[in-house]
Amino acid sequence: MLICPVCKKELVKEERKYVCTSNHNFDIAKQGYCNLFLKSSQQSGDNKEMVDARNLFLKKGYYEPLAKKLVEVMKKYSHHKVVDAGCGEGYYTNYIQRELGNEFCGFDLSKDAIKIAARNNKENRYFINSIFELPIADHSVDIILNIFAPFAQEEFHRILQQNGIVIKVDPNIKHLIQLKEELYETSYDNEILDLESNCLSLIDYEVIEFDMQLPHEDIRNLLKMTPYYYKSKKDSIERLCALDSLICNASFIIYIYKVK
Ligand SMILES: C[S@@+](CC[C@H](N)C(=O)[O-])C[C@H]1O[C@@H](n2cnc3c(N)ncnc32)[C@H](O)[C@@H]1O
Ligand SMILES: [Zn+2]
Repeated sequence: MLICPVCKKELVKEERKYVCTSNHNFDIAKQGYCNLFLKSSQQSGDNKEMVDARNLFLKKGYYEPLAKKLVEVMKKYSHHKVVDAGCGEGYYTNYIQRELGNEFCGFDLSKDAIKIAARNNKENRYFINSIFELPIADHSVDIILNIFAPFAQEEFHRILQQNGIVIKVDPNIKHLIQLKEELYETSYDNEILDLESNCLSLIDYEVIEFDMQLPHEDIRNLLKMTPYYYKSKKDSIERLCALDSLICNASFIIYIYKVK
């Protein structure tokens, strides 16, 4: 299902590189990932600080109920060829791969994130690339996972096979409400994005919600995974991060789309 980003011919994995029939070569880094992005100088995805915080937080298992739910959802559909579009450090990709057994392809713009993803799982294949220009053949994918990442709907439509689905996860209205109540005098609800699409149809959705008991040392990492860390006042951030503990609600919506 992989194609060369230059000439669009089939791309095949060799020992230490990917090669197409026109002989375009892409080296596999020692961590096991490959850079297929031709415009690396223009976009770079999440930076090291965000990636490290998310990695530290997720590997403690706080969002495991969501990962488990995604496995359950995926079992209902054909899941031979799976792409994680905006996979970050591969927390969900690697978790689901271990449960379901088949090989996934993860794509992200962030080199720091992809390095971690590839280091933690040698079964999956990880690539630096934009999800708006995926090096994947037309109509070749069963499931696209799109978790807290941009919704590249036209590109998803192009690569999905006829019965393929997109599983998109977004924060629900009250996600992390207690964290925001600590930060702001008047806290506001998350906006639910209007994800109506002219090429994909929403066929189902599910809400998953649970409380997390966060000790002091994990509060800052959670905050750094959110935009609030970058747009809140410094003293509000420090007040929140000084708390001994925080009970915080996690609430997600899982959307299922099929090709229109
Ligand atoms: C909030 S993170 C979510 C990561 C992962 N799905 C998770 O939930 O742990 C969003 C990710 O999307 C990536 N990203 C943003 N724009 C992208 C693009 N155009 N192509 C590929 N990845 C992109 C960022 O680098 C970041 O890793
Ligand atoms: Zn080529």
